[in-house]
Amino acid sequence: MPEPPGAAAPPDPPDRPELSELSELSELSELPELPEPPATSPALPALAVEDLVAGYGGVTALHGVSVSAPEGTVTAVLGANGAGKTTLLRAISGLVRVRRGRVLLHGADLTRRRPEETARAGVAHVPEGQGVITELTVEENLRLGALTRIDRAARAGALAQAYEQFPVLAARRRKAAGTLSGGERQMLVIARALLSRPRVLLLDEPSLGLAPKIITQVMGLVAQLRDSTGLTILLVEQNARAALAIANQGIVLHLGRVVEAGDPAALAADTGLLNHYLGL
Ligand SMILES: Nc1ncnc2c1ncn2[C@@H]1O[C@H](COP(=O)(O)OP(=O)(O)OP(=O)(O)O)[C@@H](O)[C@H]1O
Ligand SMILES: [Mg+2]
Repeated sequence: MPEPPGAAAPPDPPDRPELSELSELSELSELPELPEPPATSPALPALAVEDLVAGYGGVTALHGVSVSAPEGTVTAVLGANGAGKTTLLRAISGLVRVRRGRVLLHGADLTRRRPEETARAGVAHVPEGQGVITELTVEENLRLGALTRIDRAARAGALAQAYEQFPVLAARRRKAAGTLSGGERQMLVIARALLSRPRVLLLDEPSLGLAPKIITQVMGLVAQLRDSTGLTILLVEQNARAALAIANQGIVLHLGRVVEAGDPAALAADTGLLNHYLGL
């Protein structure tokens, strides 16, 4: 059984005075009291999506999608442009209204919760596009991620743990995030999401815009995170082969429906399927 994130957090480093100009941001952490995250039950999948129907106004983007992600696994969510991959992540984290179906985190019903509630319950969502604040340093970007869910005392430990997991970021902690490469930015947004100590990580196309060698590195990192922390990861990718290479299971979405699901090696070997639904 892997240790939960933060179980072996190193000692807290001292507070960083140069961040004083960000102090007003700490007020963001004064969120209203939210229900405690549900207790973990090993018998239940970490994340279960049941018959989800969701969309935008008159557009239905998901037509009854089901996914079951066991704890400590990577599920590759594949599909062509417009298949509904992003909508699935957004519906899970409460950013798109769910019309039918359920989202369960270790059996606890998160359907139609507000985004801050799903985050608080342990779902971290890294949207497409490496959204870092380029003018702030790496460390300032990380500290912004630590504002929610965990208390002040836990933040420094979480930060130290992030640097342990991502040595590249530790080496660049005082550099402006705008100076990072695409791969490093992707690491920064993932590290930032992990500061809230999630149980489930939703990653939307982390390989987008990265060179093939860097994609392999980012995928290796995702696998390593799963293996070292027991995190459950939904990995949305157009880069099917790279995602399937590290996934425990895969699903293929097409026009808002799951058209194929199962063993990643079998999916990767099915050239007809990859060609038909993913254009590979
Ligand atoms: N804000 C929106 N308003 C209306 N329709 C939308 C909106 N966002 C997405 N859609 C539609 O919902 C469907 C699913 O889109 P979604 O973004 O989930 O696909 P995707 O699989 O993530 O595609 P991509 O690979 O291009 O990121 C598409 O038909 C899309 O046009
Ligand atoms: Mg998308």
